[in-house]
Amino acid sequence: MDNDGRIISASNINIEEAIVDTSLRPKHLSEYIGQKNVTENLKVFIEAAQKRGEPLDHVLFYGPPGLGKTTLAGIIANELDVDLRIISAPAIERSGDLAAILTNLKQNDVLFIDEIHRLNRTAEEILYSAMEDFEIDMIIGKGPSAKSIRLDIDKFTLIGATTRAGNLSAPLRDRFGIVSKFELYTQDELSEIIRRSAHLLGIGIDAQSLNELAGRSRGTPRVANRLLKRVRDFAQVRGEGVIDLKITNETLSSLSIDEMGLEGLDREILRLIIDHFGGGPVGIDTIAAAIGEERVTIEDMYEPFLIQAGFLHRTKQGRIVTSKAYTHLGLAPPATAVSIQLSLLDDALAVEDDPEI
Ligand SMILES: Nc1ncnc2c1ncn2[C@@H]1O[C@H](COP(=O)(O)OP(=O)(O)OP(=O)(O)O)[C@@H](O)[C@H]1O
Ligand SMILES: [Mg+2]
Repeated sequence: MDNDGRIISASNINIEEAIVDTSLRPKHLSEYIGQKNVTENLKVFIEAAQKRGEPLDHVLFYGPPGLGKTTLAGIIANELDVDLRIISAPAIERSGDLAAILTNLKQNDVLFIDEIHRLNRTAEEILYSAMEDFEIDMIIGKGPSAKSIRLDIDKFTLIGATTRAGNLSAPLRDRFGIVSKFELYTQDELSEIIRRSAHLLGIGIDAQSLNELAGRSRGTPRVANRLLKRVRDFAQVRGEGVIDLKITNETLSSLSIDEMGLEGLDREILRLIIDHFGGGPVGIDTIAAAIGEERVTIEDMYEPFLIQAGFLHRTKQGRIVTSKAYTHLGLAPPATAVSIQLSLLDDALAVEDDPEI
C-alpha cells in the first residue's frame, strides 16, 4: 500500500526515516524497553550459547508490525558479537539466491529473514536442511545430466520475523527452537521509548507531552517515534523548540489522531461496521472491500490495536464493534448491540486467545 502520509503504515519507510530509525534503534539488550517475556528468556539463551561457543538456536518472532522485531534481531547479533545478514523473504526469488547467502555465512552468524511467511516453496525447502543439518542440497546443471550435490555450511542462527505466524508451514515453524510473540507496549513503556528517542534526537519534551504521545501511539514504538518526529517539526517551526502539551495537541489534531490514538481509517472501519452492518458481525473481506484496503493491511495494522483498546472483537462470525466504540464516536450504543456482543463474547475470547499459533 502507499504511505500517503499515514502515521501508522509500516511499509514504505522513506530514506530520511530509515536514517533516523537506525539512530533510534537500541543496540544492546539493556537499552531495549518492554517485551520482558521475550527478552528475559533470550538473555539466558544467548548467554548459554556463548558459554558453549555454539550458535543460538533458531528464533521466530511474531506479532504486529513496528513492535521491534528487526531491532531485537540486531541486538541479538550484537550481543553474540557476530555478523548479521538481513534479508526480506519476498526478495529471495531464486533458490540459488538463498543458497548463496547461506554459504557465505560464517560460524555462529545470524541470518534475519523478514516476512518469512512469504518465502517461496523451493527456498523454504532449502532452509529445512540448512536449519536442521547445516547442509544444503543444490541441483547443478539441467536435464538428464543434472546432479544433486550436498554442501556443508557453517552453523548459523536463523531469526525469522512475521506478522502472521499462522501462515507459516508446520515443518518450517517446527524448526525454530525459540518462538516469541511480541505484544503491544504499555503506555509507560512507550513513554520511556519516547523519552529515550527525544534525548537521542536532542529535543526537549515535558512530562505531560510524553504521556500524551505515549497514550496515542497505539502500543507501537514505530508509531511513537513517528509521532515524536512530527511533533518535533511543529515545535521547531511554531514553538520554542521544546515539545509542550500545546504543540503536541496541535500536531496530533493536524494529523487527525484522536485522544485514543485512532486515526482516520480506524474510525472509518468502526463507522462502516456501525452504519452499514448494525455493529456486526461482519466478515473481514467485506470490511476490506468496503474500505478499499487490503485485508492483510486491516488485519495486521489496524485490528490489533482496535481489539486491544477494546473497540472491536474478533468472533468466528465476523467482527463486531463494542459499545466503547459507539461512545468514542459520540453515538449511543443500541441495546441490541450489547446483547449480541455478550452472546458472541465467548467466541471472541476463544478466537482472540490464539489467533496465530
Ligand atoms: N523495545 C524498544 N525500545 C526502544 N525502541 C524500540 C523498541 N522496539 C522498537 N523500537 C523502535 O521502533 C522502531 C520500529 O522497530 P522495528 O523496525 O524493529 O519493528 P519491527 O517489529 O521489525 O516492524 P516490522 O514488522 O514492520 O518490520 C525502531 O526504529 C526502533 O527504534
Ligand atoms: Mg522489521
